[in-house]
Amino acid sequence: MSSHLLSVDSLSRDYVEHLMQLAGRMEPFAQRRKVTRVLEGAVLGNLFFEASTRTRISFHAAFSRLGGSVCDTTGFTFSSMAKGESLYDTSRVMGGYVDAVVLRHPDQGAVAEFAEATRVPVINGGDGPGEHPSQALLDLYTIEKEFARLGKRLEGAHFLLTGDLKHGRTVHSLIKLLSLFGPLRITLVSPPGLEMPRHLIDLVTSRGHRVEQRESLANDFGDLDVIYTTRIQKERFTDEMSETFAGISQDFIVDRAFLDQRCSPTTIVMHPLPRDSRPGANDLNVDLNGDPRLAIFRQADNGIPMRMAIFANLLQVEDYIERDAQDVRWFVPPTFGVDDRTL
Ligand code: NCD
Repeated sequence: MSSHLLSVDSLSRDYVEHLMQLAGRMEPFAQRRKVTRVLEGAVLGNLFFEASTRTRISFHAAFSRLGGSVCDTTGFTFSSMAKGESLYDTSRVMGGYVDAVVLRHPDQGAVAEFAEATRVPVINGGDGPGEHPSQALLDLYTIEKEFARLGKRLEGAHFLLTGDLKHGRTVHSLIKLLSLFGPLRITLVSPPGLEMPRHLIDLVTSRGHRVEQRESLANDFGDLDVIYTTRIQKERFTDEMSETFAGISQDFIVDRAFLDQRCSPTTIVMHPLPRDSRPGANDLNVDLNGDPRLAIFRQADNGIPMRMAIFANLLQVEDYIERDAQDVRWFVPPTFGVDDRTL
């Protein structure tokens, strides 16, 4: 057990399997059937220096559902970093105030640098184009849950990862995490210039997985079990790239026609979200909304049990979670979204 969660590099397969099980134990609390107060008195520092809705709120909600409370700050403007404070100083100060920190920062490596200056557990909530380990863990948890429902196994499964694989930190963490399991077949499709970094492809290949790179979604893929789509991360483009990528072609859009023509009824579609729904963005198409193969909102929901599991593990309260658990007394709807299905 490590005291920080900075990168998938430090996770063993056993530890990951343990977190998956622990997330399963969090379901009654995440689904609002039970209440636990195991982190009563603990305080989380939730520091987000880049845009976020899901990651920030779900870490906040997960800590709160374990009975803890949360202090947060968003953006550089209202933080002392705007006055020139170093990561080291901010980290040392935060360590005196809170019991755990989640940090999102635009620079790759910044969260690791922050973690070096404190003994309280630090979780990487995304460091630029680097990593996003808690997202990969909740993605794997989603895959396991969906596969269990569909009677599938991870061994031999075929994944399609598509979109901006160069800047997408979620796919960087996910491909490393998947490579601990398998053997798997992984097909990568991205617009030219936005390919998965070579060192990650080499790592996955060296672990015995079959990796194939393609230039478009136009051809046949055979049996796909999971399609993992990602947003084009325009905010990470250099000026030169912005000119080249002014119009990303329609060939990269996953939509209902693609699923109906090229996939099976048991292919699931994932996306870390947010999806860019503006016209011309060419992100995952909204015409799949309401289709049971679209797992994106179940995937986002899974952020709560997985992040609760991460906190319970790092703060060493796993053994006390169910003790004194109580039934929820407030109204909870049977499904959370208007077009969610009970699967
Ligand atoms: C992603 C991120 O911030 O890396 N979102 C998330 O955390 N769920 C993906 C993105 O911004 O496209």
